[in-house]
Amino acid sequence: MNYGFDGKVALVTGASGGIGRATALGFAASGAAVVVSDVNDTGGKETVALIAAAGGKAVYQRCNVADAGEVKALVARAVSEFGRLDFAHNNAGINNMGSDEYDDAVWDRAIAINLSGVMYCMREEADVMLKQGRGAIVNTSSINGLVGNPAQPGYTATKHGVIGLTRHGALRWAKAGIRVNAVCPGVIETPMTAPLTANPEMKEVLDGLTPMGRMGQAEEIAAAVLWLCSDQASFVTGHPLVVDGGATAT
Ligand SMILES: NC(=O)c1ccc[n+]([C@@H]2O[C@H](COP(=O)([O-])OP(=O)(O)OC[C@H]3O[C@@H](n4cnc5c(N)ncnc54)[C@H](O)[C@@H]3O)[C@@H](O)[C@H]2O)c1
Repeated sequence: MNYGFDGKVALVTGASGGIGRATALGFAASGAAVVVSDVNDTGGKETVALIAAAGGKAVYQRCNVADAGEVKALVARAVSEFGRLDFAHNNAGINNMGSDEYDDAVWDRAIAINLSGVMYCMREEADVMLKQGRGAIVNTSSINGLVGNPAQPGYTATKHGVIGLTRHGALRWAKAGIRVNAVCPGVIETPMTAPLTANPEMKEVLDGLTPMGRMGQAEEIAAAVLWLCSDQASFVTGHPLVVDGGATAT
């Protein structure tokens, strides 16, 4: 799907692979110039190379989203490099699978990256978009932002928090031309879930968690993000869009 984003500028965090890379490639394929960001420099530069190889335009900027100063510099780079910022996908996140999230350090890290990181990004992006009188932001939450997960208090709380921030931003900037939405992926095959899917038995379990009988693909999440940014979604704001193969339909 080509949304005709020629002349537009998109920023994607957590874009060294998985969902973020798929979104960055999708923005570029629709004509936008893309600022690719991550803390994994190798993967981020690979994403830029993939975009360039497909004839698109992108730059890489390292940014730890838990660092407010680095986020400020990231958004400033979008403006200095391409002159504006139309779309932002605040997607960087961690899942502390297997660790005890009642450990203070594990909890604090989830809050810093998954929740504070989204807030830092939103406020800097909105600052630019307010001056333009236009923009669209999509935050990556999760189905764990809508339903509980007994294993992961930090992940569950932060992903619920992302939906709260999304609704806040939507209301705050509704009259300023900025739409803010969230995407809530189900179980998706990405580097995040790769340690689990490497085990065929676990892959079968994960496939079975979804009514469709399979894990989702990063491109299926990217498609939702691109639509939310497009003019096709011009009256959609404050919405947590579930893309989960039916996992939360039960
Ligand atoms: N894969 C799933 O099943 C699934 C389900 C629901 C939600 N999500 C969410 O989707 C988003 C993308 O995850 P993914 O599945 O593509 O996995 P992923 O691990 O490939 O992507 C996450 C990216 O965030 C980056 N990152 C981690 N800490 C960072 C930091 N401090 N600053 C900047 N970047 C940082 C990682 O390097 C990585 O590239 C995450 O927010 C995740 O919570 C994933």
